[in-house]
Amino acid sequence: MNNKKKLIIAIDGPAGVGKSTVSKAIARRLRLKHIDSGAIYRAITYQVLKKNEDIGSEDVVVAIARQIKIEYKAQNKIIVNGDVVTEQIRSHEVTRHVSTVAAYKGVRDVVVKILRGLTADCGVVMEGRDIGSVILPDADFKFYLDATIAERAQRRYKELKKKDKNVELYKIQLEIKHRDKKDSSREIAPLIRDPGAAYIDTSALTLKEVMSLIIKKINSILRIDNISFFRSSNLFYSIVCFVLRFGYVKYLGLNVQGLSNIPATGGVLLVCNHLSHLDPPAVAVSLSRQASFIARSSLFEVNPLLCWLLKRLNVYPLNREGIDRDVFKRVMAILDAGRICLIFPEGTRSKTGQLQPAKPGIGMIISMAKNNGVRVNVIPCKITGTDKAFPVGAKWIKKEQIRLKFGKPIDLSDLLEQQDKRNYRAIADRLMEHIGGV
Ligand code: DC
Repeated sequence: MNNKKKLIIAIDGPAGVGKSTVSKAIARRLRLKHIDSGAIYRAITYQVLKKNEDIGSEDVVVAIARQIKIEYKAQNKIIVNGDVVTEQIRSHEVTRHVSTVAAYKGVRDVVVKILRGLTADCGVVMEGRDIGSVILPDADFKFYLDATIAERAQRRYKELKKKDKNVELYKIQLEIKHRDKKDSSREIAPLIRDPGAAYIDTSALTLKEVMSLIIKKINSILRIDNISFFRSSNLFYSIVCFVLRFGYVKYLGLNVQGLSNIPATGGVLLVCNHLSHLDPPAVAVSLSRQASFIARSSLFEVNPLLCWLLKRLNVYPLNREGIDRDVFKRVMAILDAGRICLIFPEGTRSKTGQLQPAKPGIGMIISMAKNNGVRVNVIPCKITGTDKAFPVGAKWIKKEQIRLKFGKPIDLSDLLEQQDKRNYRAIADRLMEHIGGV
C-alpha cells in the first residue's frame, strides 16, 4: 500500500477513545498521511482565545475561522497565520472550549473545505467525529472506535499524568462526559456512528489488538497479506497455466491474435465477451503476464477444492446482488499494483453465442479508477469457439477450435471527463462495441 493508491481511511469515535494513537499507527503501517481533524477546530479555538474574543458569539468565531490561514504539515505540525501552534492547541483552555467552536455551522463549513483539500493528492488516515459520515463519505474504509467513559477517562488520565502530576481522574471523567454530550447533541454533524463504519469496542483491547482488527479488515478486502496480486509471480499459477496451455493448444487448437496490444507493464483491464467456463483459462494461458480474475461468489461455494484452487489462481469473488463495493476496491488495487484484471462485462455466459449488453458496474469501476488516479489501459478481447467446445450445461469438452483476439486500448476519455453516473451505461456500451469490433 502506498500514497499513490490514494487509500482513504476514516476513523471516528468519541473523545479519549485512542483514535490518535490508532490512526497514527495505521498511517505509519500503510504509509499514508495522518490527519487529526480535531486539530483544525482546536487551531480556530486557540486563535479566538488568543484574540480574547467572545467564544460564545457564533458570528465572531465564524469570522475568525474564515480569516485565519491554517497549515497542516507533516507530523501533525499546525501553523496558524505563520505561527507554529502544535503544542498550544492541546492546552487545557483550548480543550475546554473547542466543543463550543466545533458546534458552529460556519466553522464546520470552513473546516470541511480544509480537510477535503488535505486529501487531494495523497492517501490519508483521517480521524475525527464526522469523517465517515460528512467529511469523507466515500472513504475506502470507515471505522468507529468506542470505549466506556470510565475506560476513556483512565486512558486520558494516564497520558496527562506524565505531564502533570496534579490531574484528577474524576475531573477528566466529567470533562469527557460533558464533551460527549456536546459532540453528540449538536445539530450539525454530530458524533454518530456511520452505518457503513466497522464498529470496534476498544474497552478491553490493547492498541496492538485494535490495530490487528483494523489491518485484518483492510486485508480481508484488499487481500494484501495473502496469495495476492502483490506477489509479482505466483508459481502455482504458472504451473497450472503451463499444463493447461498444452491442452488448449494441442486439443482445442487455441489461436491467439493481437497480443502485442497488451502493454508489457502497468495496469490493464481486459474486457472480454463470455461464452463458457473455458474462457478465463483460455485468456490466462494466452497471456505472457499473470492476470487476476473476478468471478461470481457462488463459484467459491461449489466445493472446498474449487474454492481453494480459485483463491490460488488470483480469482476474486463478486457478489452479484446489489453493488459489491469490496470487489471494486479489489479491482482498483489490482490495477494500481500494475497488474492485469480480466472482467466479463456481460456478467454471465451468453447462451446464444451473441454478445449481450454489459452491466453498468464495469462503467463504475473504470470511472472509479479515473477518479482515484489509477492509470489503466482498457483492452477489449473477443473469444469464439468456447461455446461450441463447452457450452452452458455441457458435461464434456468437445474438440472445437478456440480463437482469442485482443484489440487496441479503448479510448473512453470523452465519457470519463464528466463525472456523471449516467455515463456508466455509456461506458459499458462502448466496451461491448469494441469487443464486437475486435
Ligand atoms: O479529537 P479532539 O479532542 O482533538 O477534538 C476536538 C473537538 O473538535 C472535539 O470536541 C470535537 C470536535 N471535532 C468535531 O466536531 N469533528 C471532528 N471531525 C473532529 C473534532
